[in-house]
Amino acid sequence: MNIILFGPPGVGKGTQAKLLIEKLNIPQISTGDILRQAISNKTELGLEAKSYMDKGDLVPDEIVNGLVKLRLSEKDCENGFILDGYPRTLQQANILDENLKEINKKIEYVISLELDDSLIVERITGRRTSKKTGKIYHIKYNPPIDENEEDLIQRDDDTEEVVKQRLDNYHNQTEPILAYYNSHNIVSSVNSDDSVENILSNILKILGK
Ligand code: AP5
Repeated sequence: MNIILFGPPGVGKGTQAKLLIEKLNIPQISTGDILRQAISNKTELGLEAKSYMDKGDLVPDEIVNGLVKLRLSEKDCENGFILDGYPRTLQQANILDENLKEINKKIEYVISLELDDSLIVERITGRRTSKKTGKIYHIKYNPPIDENEEDLIQRDDDTEEVVKQRLDNYHNQTEPILAYYNSHNIVSSVNSDDSVENILSNILKILGK
């Protein structure tokens, strides 16, 4: 099953992807996570990506397209994958299709998670991630049982100012590509102003699970 989890920053793509990995037994490919890993490894690519990410801007297409192409060629993607945060521009969507065609694959489902911008800011500024496990928490909606045990960190781009820039970029550059996928009749919308469990169950219904 080849899936794109689509939607604005902070809508819950990462949260749902982590649950879907267990249900579907296919990997999550998060371009944000791959780029953050490169930053933490202090690679040249990571340093370049950081200059864009800290401002809430998109990293250039050539960089992310190359990373995803490489990741899709790995063995664990043979039976499917969940793309989270990619594609984000029409150019990325076109290159993705070309790359998948080369390996006789195509996107089967685009799950579009929807949430009002006003709720997004609260979700993102309250997000904390466990340094130990990578688990995603929220200080109000999903706090960890033991904060000290988890070693929680806040992402550098999760400030109110940067979130506004990320939302602008989403509406201007990313949201328009839904029309491209709509023309292939593979888009299903899911209301993200709901519990994590209900959203998961709605996604699984769409996937026929
Ligand atoms: P990326 O890491 O992809 O960030 P994003 O798309 O902005 O998405 P987020 O990770 O912020 O949110 P999410 O939807 O995963 O929400 P989450 O589940 O964590 O990208 C970061 C940057 O990298 C970009 O700005 C760009 O610079 C660069 N980049 C990445 N991909 C790129 C690409 N393809 N091209 C170019 N540049 C790229 O949930 C958020 C919070 O809400 C959490 O605290 C969670 O606990 C809480 N929550 C989740 N679900 C619920 C619920 N149902 N109810 C209440 N709270 C909830």
